[in-house]
Amino acid sequence: MAETAASLSKPGEGDQRPRHVAIIMDGNGRWAKNRGWPRLVGHRRGAERVKQIVRACPDLGVNWLTVYAFSTENWKRSTEEVLGLMGIFARYIEREADGLSTEGVRMRFIGGRERLEPKLQRLMEGIESRTARNNRLNLTVAINYGGRDELARAANRLAARIARGDIAEPTEADLADCLDTAGHPDPDLVIRTSGETRTSNFLPFQAAYSEYEFTQTLWPDFTPDHLAEILDRYGLRERRFGSV
Ligand code: IPE
Ligand code: IPE
Ligand code: MG
Repeated sequence: MAETAASLSKPGEGDQRPRHVAIIMDGNGRWAKNRGWPRLVGHRRGAERVKQIVRACPDLGVNWLTVYAFSTENWKRSTEEVLGLMGIFARYIEREADGLSTEGVRMRFIGGRERLEPKLQRLMEGIESRTARNNRLNLTVAINYGGRDELARAANRLAARIARGDIAEPTEADLADCLDTAGHPDPDLVIRTSGETRTSNFLPFQAAYSEYEFTQTLWPDFTPDHLAEILDRYGLRERRFGSV
């Protein structure tokens, strides 16, 4: 029997849940601008949303959440905005540490750390080790993260392993093992808020087979209900991975 368009696009079972959701949290600046407020007010509201979404994930069946907080390209912004964002990250870690620990969240970071303030680096290392035994939700925050930068750093690690004689002919798995996300599952679903339909250097290797959702909602307006709705739609998708 000939294949019809309907049979090709038949939905999945309807109850599949993404284990790993990654979010490009975009639109904080426009959210503030729409109200005549400074961009940093939008970033502060954005950080409040992160707290809510983190809390909602376990009940929505999401065990891994990766959020894009600051890209390698975001250094091009004004000093005021960059410093303001770094302050928001530090305060988030300081204020949320107790809550994250008791709620079973394991917090980790991806991205190059050497360019960040030593105080922020210490806070990041502290919360990573403090929450290392948690597993209710794996929260990964991408700070000074760029997929191309990560691949370049991974290539250097791989070269060192080859030079040591640990690896002869590197495989995909060897490369994955040199990424900042070594040991993390790939994202099943990547969400970008604010209406932009680009990936902006986010997880190019890891999201090669992810499903994508683009929503017009600006990040400070993105609620757990929006997430739940997107997860329901994900349940209707059929993932083929090149098979039939
Ligand atoms: C996302 O919001 C946060 C960061 C990139 C740090 P934006 O600051 O990019 O907001 P828009 O895109 O200008 O509205
Ligand atoms: C992507 O947003 C980076 C983060 C959300 C942290 P940007 O606002 O920086 O991306 P572009 O400039 O629209 O590509
Ligand atoms: Mg933006």
